[in-house]
Amino acid sequence: MNELKTQTEKALVKIAKSKKAVKDLPKTGDYLFFKIKKEIAKIVSELFNNKVIKTSDLNISLPPYHIKADLSLEIFSISKILGLDPKKVSKELGLVINKNKTKFIESATTAGPYLNLKLKKNVYGEALAEVTVLEEKYGKNDKNKNKLAIIDFSSPNIAKPMSVGHLRSTVLGQALANIYEATGYVVVRDNHIGDWGTQFGKLIYAYQTWGDEKAVAKNPIAELNKLYIKFNEEANKDPELDDKAREIFSNLEKGDGKIRKLWEKFSKLSIKEFEEVYDILGIKFDTYLGESYFAKDAEDEVKKALEKNLARKDEESDAIVVDTLLGVPSFLLRKQDGSTLYISRDLAKIKFRIANFKPDIILYVVGQEQKLNFAQLFELVKHIGYSNKTELKHICFGLVIMDGAKMSTRKGSVVELKELINQSVAMAKELILEKDKDISEKELAKTAEIIGVGSIIYNDLRQSKEKNISFDWKKMLNFSGGSAVYLQYTYARIKSILKKVPGEVSDKPIFKNEDEFNLAKKIIFFPHVVLEAQRHDSPHLIATYMEELAQLFNSFYNSVQILGTEDEELKNSRLILIASVATVIKNGLTLLNIKTSDKI
Ligand code: ARG
Repeated sequence: MNELKTQTEKALVKIAKSKKAVKDLPKTGDYLFFKIKKEIAKIVSELFNNKVIKTSDLNISLPPYHIKADLSLEIFSISKILGLDPKKVSKELGLVINKNKTKFIESATTAGPYLNLKLKKNVYGEALAEVTVLEEKYGKNDKNKNKLAIIDFSSPNIAKPMSVGHLRSTVLGQALANIYEATGYVVVRDNHIGDWGTQFGKLIYAYQTWGDEKAVAKNPIAELNKLYIKFNEEANKDPELDDKAREIFSNLEKGDGKIRKLWEKFSKLSIKEFEEVYDILGIKFDTYLGESYFAKDAEDEVKKALEKNLARKDEESDAIVVDTLLGVPSFLLRKQDGSTLYISRDLAKIKFRIANFKPDIILYVVGQEQKLNFAQLFELVKHIGYSNKTELKHICFGLVIMDGAKMSTRKGSVVELKELINQSVAMAKELILEKDKDISEKELAKTAEIIGVGSIIYNDLRQSKEKNISFDWKKMLNFSGGSAVYLQYTYARIKSILKKVPGEVSDKPIFKNEDEFNLAKKIIFFPHVVLEAQRHDSPHLIATYMEELAQLFNSFYNSVQILGTEDEELKNSRLILIASVATVIKNGLTLLNIKTSDKI
């Protein structure tokens, strides 16, 4: 119980600190992208009877390659709000823009459902200045200031292998946490460890009967998992074992000292092992509030549900059942033998979270197989009346597929996940050596880790989370696109140019060719992409954006001489441009929790 208090207080301290840090974030409205939108919103509003148009009502995108315009403004969403004919809106808006001087827009042309815009040349100087000034803060914004999110992720089960699914949750959860923070949220990263349930009765029985203390100390999760499997095999032959295990669990719930000690030992050893994976990935949780802390309170929740007539005792089995709630099928809230369940412990946890942290939102980053569970949980919470001010959201994700089949961990420990990461690092090493035979041992190890770990994370995050994702080494470590290393390499390439000549900030960069304008324009969109990734809980939007940016850069890089540019002013402009590209790639990768290195 004390531990619960300590952790809660620690989290509250971190919340207070983060609240202060939010004040240093760039203001959303100060970004060029949003200023352009605001300018358009104002023009539209003035033109059409002062009807309020929010910047978020406007959709601005980069027009396809063959269209000679800088930006495309989508008209339907505006005409819908105005209740006017889109053709009329487009035409009149175009006329006004072309007639009056605006700060950012030079001219407009109607094109079907779009109004194509040309930007004034001074916009580009402002865009690059933004990046240079804000640097590692570029893209971050204060849109969600004063909001708090709890992100429940990773959450493996003790004494059990950490699955590939848990790895997905870990990678996705951390990226979401970073992205939420980058848009002004204060975030609490919570690991809802699976550390309670009747299976621990079985495990303790198995340990007491067949366990080898030394072996468990050496390789905790693998050994404990073996013991658990052995229990199930033996219980098949001798069903009485199940009764014994149930009794042990019931004693654990009652607080039996000796049993509790064993359970604590298993729990500590497991978390220590999980932390090896978190360390490699560079992830720190604010709290490790596992299910066990909420077992007692879960009982109160069950009682409350009974009192509110949301649940009933099943005459035959004595279990507590919740009958069909709005759209969700019936489910159990307490087992026949009186023990609490996963869902009721989650119920108690919600109450705890709301009471202590008052979150605006709680994200549960858990695989698609628990979709029904969360639908049931959230519906019940709604009926009980806890979450009026707290949005509950299941961030659901698909499976990891390797060679056409679901990927899984079998050996029974995190060893396997570590092996997976190590394999990626080893492959990265080979790739680096192909490019640079003379690299020092130290440098090689460092860079290989950055690439190897980055590849695993990026492979996950570049694919839309709902889909099953593929795990394909060749693609993951492809230097020429679609991988972390492609971005990391592009970044390092730029850094090596800048090392030779750093470039000086200029507020009037001059650009000559199309590639330059395209790159600068793409950079303007980054703050918007970060916000979209947060709004849609979709880190892959950032990945897609960065790949497009890197492609634009590479086409630019292939078409012009940067260091060899004769005109000094143009050369400087190009240096500032590529420095901005590097900053954006770095910031984007950092949001995905991927490291960069100046030398690859
Ligand atoms: N331990 C669970 C599992 O491995 C995931 C827990 C997710 N979080 C939650 N609050 N239910 O399946």
